[in-house]
Amino acid sequence: GMLRQEVRILVIGLDNSGKTTLINHIKPSSSSTFEVTPTVGYNVEEFSKNNLNFTVFDMSGEGRYRNLWEHYYESVQAIIYVIDSTDSLRLCVSSDELSTLLSHPSLSSRSLPLLFFSNKMDVPGALSPVEVMKGMELEEIKDRPWHITASNAITGAGVEEGVAWLSEKII
Ligand code: GTP
Ligand code: MG
Repeated sequence: GMLRQEVRILVIGLDNSGKTTLINHIKPSSSSTFEVTPTVGYNVEEFSKNNLNFTVFDMSGEGRYRNLWEHYYESVQAIIYVIDSTDSLRLCVSSDELSTLLSHPSLSSRSLPLLFFSNKMDVPGALSPVEVMKGMELEEIKDRPWHITASNAITGAGVEEGVAWLSEKII
């Protein structure tokens, strides 16, 4: 058959931010899971979409597993970083994790695109993407393309827009 392009994506962000729920929306519906539970360690999702072969690393965001994230920086073409826009208390924790990521040697030499989802936009009182952008100091990122968009990982609202941006940066 036709040789499809391989796309490898790392999905990270704090625990409970909605990473697995979001990936469930990116996957073709035939392979989506009905019940999402906290990820233990990580999961690898492989599927074809838009004539591309996707490999998505769905990492756990729990503190004790965050040291696994860096092992994938070198092998992916893009990173999706999910933020719970209702968790303003932990926005600084998320921001710290991002700083650690941005200063990692495996990333400093490559301008990997970074897509941020300001997730759970459906919840009343959720921070706006601009507020999340400020809290995460995204404007400090000058050496790589980045984009932030609001999402509802449960309905999928905003997800396609973000993925479309990312696809354009990868291909
Ligand atoms: P870990 O695997 O523990 O790192 O968490 P995760 O980032 O994969 O989060 P997960 O997808 O398991 O979602 C955590 C909880 O948030 C679940 O109860 C989801 O249903 C809920 N959730 C995820 N996205 C949204 C959203 O956009 N809106 C609302 N209201 N709830 C969401
Ligand atoms: Mg998960």
